[in-house]
Amino acid sequence: MSETYYITTPIYYPSGNPHIGHCYTTVACDVIARFKRMQGYDVMFLTGTDEHGAKIQQKAEAESKTPKEYVDGIVENFKRLWSFMGISYDRYVRTTDDYHIETVQNIFRKLYDKGYIYKGSYKGKYCVPCESFWTEKELIDGCKCPDCKRPVIDSEEEAYFLRLSDFTDRIIDLLRNSDYLRPESRVNEMINNFVKDGLEDLCVSRTSVKWGIPVPFDENHTVYVWLDALINYISAIGYENSTYNDFEKYWPANMHMTAKEIVRFHSIVWPAILMMLEVPLPKRLYGHGWITFGGAKMSKSLGNVIDPFVLGERYGVDAVRYQILRDMPYGSDSNFSNEIMIGRINTDLANDLGNLVSRTVAMADKYFGGTLISDRKTDPLDDELKAMAEALRDPVASLVEEAQHSLALAEIFKVVSRANKYIDETTPWILAKDKANDPRLATVLYNLLETIRICSALLFPFMPTTMPKVWEQIGAKESDVAYDKIATFGVLPAYVTVHKGEVLFPRIDIDKEIDELNAMLTPAKTIREDEDLDKAGIITIDKFAETKLRTGEIIACEKIPKAKKLLKIQVDDGRHGRQIVSGIAQWYAPEDLIGRKIIFVANLAPAKLCGEESQGMLLACDTADGGAKVVFLDNDIPNGSTVR
Ligand code: ME8
Ligand code: MG
Repeated sequence: MSETYYITTPIYYPSGNPHIGHCYTTVACDVIARFKRMQGYDVMFLTGTDEHGAKIQQKAEAESKTPKEYVDGIVENFKRLWSFMGISYDRYVRTTDDYHIETVQNIFRKLYDKGYIYKGSYKGKYCVPCESFWTEKELIDGCKCPDCKRPVIDSEEEAYFLRLSDFTDRIIDLLRNSDYLRPESRVNEMINNFVKDGLEDLCVSRTSVKWGIPVPFDENHTVYVWLDALINYISAIGYENSTYNDFEKYWPANMHMTAKEIVRFHSIVWPAILMMLEVPLPKRLYGHGWITFGGAKMSKSLGNVIDPFVLGERYGVDAVRYQILRDMPYGSDSNFSNEIMIGRINTDLANDLGNLVSRTVAMADKYFGGTLISDRKTDPLDDELKAMAEALRDPVASLVEEAQHSLALAEIFKVVSRANKYIDETTPWILAKDKANDPRLATVLYNLLETIRICSALLFPFMPTTMPKVWEQIGAKESDVAYDKIATFGVLPAYVTVHKGEVLFPRIDIDKEIDELNAMLTPAKTIREDEDLDKAGIITIDKFAETKLRTGEIIACEKIPKAKKLLKIQVDDGRHGRQIVSGIAQWYAPEDLIGRKIIFVANLAPAKLCGEESQGMLLACDTADGGAKVVFLDNDIPNGSTVR
């Protein structure tokens, strides 16, 4: 029987459609799962959705749906995206699935019976959007959620508590003296911020949230979403339910992967629950950084050009997979822009890898009609390339296992570059000049094919759609790229036949591409006759107040040379001033705007548009002819006033 490997993504909130951030974790796990399968492991790769809680309930209400109807629609989109992105998950857990509910209720009862859950009264600070309780000292400015920076509310009610306070020492020991949490830098962060002064018991039930799993012996209460959610990692393999039966086989998990903002739940609460249940602990938690946009975590206004479906369709899914993994440094954040993505694709994929394959195959085709007749005589000129290719597999395997995707790719591309250099050194076109059918020429091409075989086999988990096309082109059979064949040179037959194929990674014309993206960024301009405002979702005045509208004066304005639709606008906002990039260049010349008073959204996450930072958005109306009219104010209105 083969060894098992169990890997999990977080279960995502279906409170909106999946985005490139969700893709990052899921693709990173997919690479590890595929790599482990290649190594012969029996892999269980789990992903899913976290479907309970107040936030989902509110979203559903806003769309006049039941919570279940609402999440069903979004879950479809998650699954569609995963299939589009080539995600090879083995199981998909939904916290609304019956077996999961059964497990959560059984665990709740078990912990209650063991005295780890007790009834008390909760008085504290609660962030509704994040569904998180915070202690006084964790709040920003004493009143705001440290995650989303929105105001928290006071809440007091009868509730069940989880006795985390008993586990402070064991959690410190786990974090300090094991390699459970990585990167190492998060260990001190967790200990200093959350554990050092002693863990507090955690409130694990709510009476105000109806959309949740009922506490089995007290139906006025629902189970706190985080307790519900964390349990997915064992419910999905059959702990305390009879739907699945592979808990013994796969537990403990080899790898939980999440981004940094939920490391706290996974490094403190989750192991404590398992300790209470006397279940072995997972082996590794890797907390990666965020994909950011102009420094902020996400930006809705960029949604249409960073939508993973749009990116995948424009650039190819494998190129997207490659870029997000290659540019995320281990443990820290990675800023995303379409320019960065296109740059990566053109440089690494089109120039380095794509060219290596197409030049090699084209030369084998041109000089040998496709079939080589190599004598495989070695030449000192070949030694370094061969040595590098043969030594590649094991270090890449260790890096992948440690979730060091970027470094693993860098190692592989070192060999790709070395092979390109080898072409320059051996100058096959000169070898071919007077001596077609020269065995040395065939050997040079053979060595290149072998290097491509090794690199492409190791790249397969990263780019699972494209690498089989490479194998087809270089004449490799599936058995030639098996794991035990990728640490040795000389696997392809000496008389291998290549097949010229399509361009693997077409070069992208960056200027044309940026123009098209900018066109997509321009919001829809027609009056929405079909919009049913009654059904658009009613919001409270508090919700409206979250959008900070302020007045300002345009003091400078210019066109952005590369972007036909964008204007770069300097605004006197009554404070330090700010820059806003707006897609109104078709309707306004810069001089029309200077000196005019406007309204802008002051607390929008900053975004980069065509390389220019935009700190907010000015208000404009759609016009019937598809244009836009900026909302101008009277000139006597002071800059920086609140609009409400
Ligand atoms: O937190 N960059 O769900 P969630 C990188 N349901 N990764 C990102 C990202 C970004 N900009 N944005 C999101 C929840 N992610 C809970 C989890 S687990 C028991 C319950 C990824 O939908 C990253 O993995 O908010 C992050 O941890 C996760 O999505 C949060 O997803
Ligand atoms: Mg989250």
